[in-house]
This record gives sequence, C-alpha cells and structure tokens, in this order.
Amino acid sequence: MAVTVRVPAKVNLQLAVGPVRADGYHSLVTVFHAVSLFDEVTAAAADKTAIAVTGEDAAAVPTDRSNLAWQAASALAKAAGLRGAAVRIEIRKRIPVAAGLAGGSADAAATLVACNELWQTGLSARDLAGLAASLGSDVPFALVGGTAVGRGRGEHLTAALAAGTYHWALAFGHEGLSTAQVYATCDRLRAARAAAGDQPRRGEPELSKPLMTALRSGDPAQVGPLLINDLQPAALSLQPDLRRALAAGREHGALGAIVSGSGPTCAFLASDAARARELAVALTGSGICRAVVRASGPVPGAAIVRDNQPS
Ligand code: C5P
Repeated sequence: MAVTVRVPAKVNLQLAVGPVRADGYHSLVTVFHAVSLFDEVTAAAADKTAIAVTGEDAAAVPTDRSNLAWQAASALAKAAGLRGAAVRIEIRKRIPVAAGLAGGSADAAATLVACNELWQTGLSARDLAGLAASLGSDVPFALVGGTAVGRGRGEHLTAALAAGTYHWALAFGHEGLSTAQVYATCDRLRAARAAAGDQPRRGEPELSKPLMTALRSGDPAQVGPLLINDLQPAALSLQPDLRRALAAGREHGALGAIVSGSGPTCAFLASDAARARELAVALTGSGICRAVVRASGPVPGAAIVRDNQPS
C-alpha cells in the first residue's frame, strides 16, 4: 500500500516584503509561480514512521522529526484523529535544498496529499490548506501550484490571471541560504538605510499592477523587466557572487534575471523553450553556477501520480 505524489518547485515573480509583524514574520505580497522541477514523495504503510531521502542534496535533508514532511504526516494524523498512525516517507529530490525554491515546503505539501490518500482521512481540500499554513508560509502554494498571489506571510492565496507558458533557466548556487537569515539581513540593510536617511517610511507591501497586467498578456518580454524581489539585496549581500550570475544571464539574453525567493537560485526568463536551452548552456559554460536546469511554468501543485492501494 503506497501513494506517490509529484510536487513542483516555485519561483516568486514578485516578492514585496513589508514590516515585521508581532509574530516575527514579515507581512508580504508575493506572486508565486510553480515550475516544472519536481520532487516525488511516496507514503507507504509502515509500523513506525521513518523518512528516506534520495537524489539532489539528499545528505543535507534531515530524516528525523525536524523534517517538515514528518511534521506534515503527524499534523495530518492528529487532525484526522488517527492515533499512532505511522508511515514510511520516501522523498526523491530534484529540487535543491535551501535554494529559495521552496523544496522543503513542497515535500511537506506532497506528504499531506500522499498520507491523506493512504489513510483515506476524508479531510477536505480546505482542511489540508489549513494544515499546510500551520507548517510553513510556502506550503499552501505547493498544494495548488499554478500562478497565485500570496498575502499575509505568504499563506493566504488567491489565483492570479496569467496567460501563456514561461520558460526558465534556473541556476543553482554552490551553497544554500537560510531563509530566516536572509529576512534578518533584509531588516538590517533597511535599518542601516533608514539610519542614513535614505529609506522612505515602509508601509504595507503592494501587488505590482504592471506585473499582473503583463502576466495577463502572456508575453514574457513584458513580464521579464517587471520581475522584482525585495529579498534580492539581502541575498546578494550574503553571497556577492550572485551578482555575476545575474549579469551573465542578462548578457546571454535573459528577458528577466532575479534571485528566487530567499535565494541563492537565480531564475532567468527566456522568450521560448529554445532560448531557455541556449541560456542554460551558456550559463553552464560560464562555470559561475553549480548547475543549471531548464523549467517551464505554470504547472499544477502536488498531485498523485501512483496509487498502489487495494481499491
Ligand atoms: O514559514 P517558514 O517556516 O517557511 O519561514 C521560514 C523563516 O523565514 C521564518 O522563520 C522567518 O524567519 C522567515 N519569514 C519571514 N516572513 C515571512 C516568511 C518567512 O520573516 N513572511
């Protein structure tokens, strides 16, 4: 008895970071975009809960309760009133770890969907979304995928009207970045600018109307220049080499070049699939990045791909 779920990585087309809230999180407005770089999670009936991880960066992923996927299975069992429910969770990673692509959140979302099917809990999509939000800011989006606007700390989602398919080259960094550290660095940089008198008072973050209009047009040439990430200065200050990667992408014809989420992955938007391939080849050749992959979006969120249960 086993269920396998495929789940995508995300990039943020806009990430507007507001002030710190009383709970320590930042209020934000973001445009999430799910791309065709997938992890796979299999949940299988077991006597004792355990996690096994294979693939990209597997050694960097914890296999104990600190793994968000384990917490997802526990939270689901509790919500469904299943005492002592156990599951073997196998995670096959292609999304790099601590990369700004929400790979850990994706695995947690996939675990919710896989265990929900395995245990036939009868919980609704709304229940799962609530559990997802309790696990992390990016987990609810990994359930739905597509292109969506996130508010609050990222967990309140509304669908975005986006046309067309967007082709990306994703360049992975040599070392990961801690999301918490990137947000803290963003606060520090802003405080320093405010002390120097060149920071306007920061109100609540706002959705970019020009970006939303460009997304409705389906034209990557309109979208590219409007990509924006308030965490980028912080990521660049922590890993200055990322500047070179972004410049190399622009030189090789990217329509937009941006750090994805808290980084260090750099996302380069191309006009079509062939240009994305050329960009990936050129960036690989430059030797600046650890690896470069191509991906397209939007793609759907966590979805069951194999269900080996007795019907
Ligand atoms: O929600 P998640 O656990 O993925 O967030 C990881 C860290 O990123 C938080 O502990 C916090 O430091 C930072 N964060 C934030 N504001 C957000 C989302 C994340 O400060 N809206």
